[in-house]
Amino acid sequence: MTDFHDLESKCKGCTACRLCEKRKNVVFGVGNPKARVMFIGEGPGEQEDIQGEPFVGRAGQLLDKLLYAVDLDRRKNIYITNIVKCRPPQNRDPQEDEQESCIGYLREQTRIIRPKIIVTLGRIAGMRLIKPDLRITREHGTLIEKKGVWMMPMLHPAAILRNQSQMEGALNDFLILREKIKEVCPETYEN
Ligand code: URA
Ligand code: SF4
Repeated sequence: MTDFHDLESKCKGCTACRLCEKRKNVVFGVGNPKARVMFIGEGPGEQEDIQGEPFVGRAGQLLDKLLYAVDLDRRKNIYITNIVKCRPPQNRDPQEDEQESCIGYLREQTRIIRPKIIVTLGRIAGMRLIKPDLRITREHGTLIEKKGVWMMPMLHPAAILRNQSQMEGALNDFLILREKIKEVCPETYEN
């Protein structure tokens, strides 16, 4: 895992785009670099910037509950990160050039982890990683195979909080995910 730690150190000193100017912390990722399942959001928010960990605000608490419902644990059997590693001011969407500057870190993380399943959280990550014309409200919870990796777009937990009628559908996506994990990487659930 020295590769992974070297990458993390390099990322923590990164000044490749304007998002470095106002960040408090670089949010590299959290979890098990040997996990077979990766979750990818769009970018750190206020709490993430302060704490240096992805999904630790209100949306993150909901994410943890949904993960727990299907026996996933951010510190144990998954890895969580974002498209951009520094917080966009006022939580605006990361701009195209910022995503472009940062995506190399995500590519390297993915190359080292070699996940069997990638879950994208929200529209931005889904469009960037799965397909540019993704219709997130219609297509969340579907599985698409890309170069031997199963990709699933999910709703962003912050969007679920804003529209609680989406909760049942969101939970159902996690149940579908659990079945796929049992099929392609059951070791996720061992010990
Ligand atoms: N939203 C994201 O997309 N990522 C985080 O880390 C937190 C909130
Ligand atoms: Fe570097 Fe990414 Fe932070 Fe931009 S967002 S400064 S590319 S780590």
